[in-house]
Amino acid sequence: MRIAVYPGSFDPVTNGHLDVVARAARLFDEVVVAVAASNAKNSLFPANYRAELVERSLDGRDGTSNVRVTHFDGLLVDYVRSLGACAVVRGLRAISDFEFEFQMALMNRKLEPTIETIFLMPREEYSYLSSRMVREVARLGGDISSFAPAASREALHAVFHPQPDPS
Ligand code: PNS
Repeated sequence: MRIAVYPGSFDPVTNGHLDVVARAARLFDEVVVAVAASNAKNSLFPANYRAELVERSLDGRDGTSNVRVTHFDGLLVDYVRSLGACAVVRGLRAISDFEFEFQMALMNRKLEPTIETIFLMPREEYSYLSSRMVREVARLGGDISSFAPAASREALHAVFHPQPDPS
């Protein structure tokens, strides 16, 4: 049983993330999407809600029956070890991602040499997508329908453009 962990902030999940999940699901027996509870960024959504958005976005999606979604706190390598997973999956969009990803992969390898980091490239049309940009476009009222799944779009809409209470 080869288990991979796909960690990230997923704040919120984008179509680029979902593309990487689908690719990882074809390569491993099980993929655990692991939403980081504490990260360096100030998250818009709490971790359990970010995980719920990923779950809702994957619900019924072809080729993802071997994917489950969790959230974790603390060191990634500890979490990966606790699951008995052999690999960490990260999406690599462009050269600009490389430096951070390289540092993180080598740090994780130093902390736990048995865990490999695998990089997967999303479809080219998602290569410029990031949760940060999707949040920004949503906040400013732009159309994010080709960038994020319905669950994320609804969550962003509720935060940035709440409907007035009719009562
Ligand atoms: O989607 P992101 O924000 O690029 O994901 C980064 C994440 C959450 C994978 C990374 O910050 C992480 O692994 N955090 C957990 C804490 C940890 O293990 N830090 C050391 C790794 S360098």
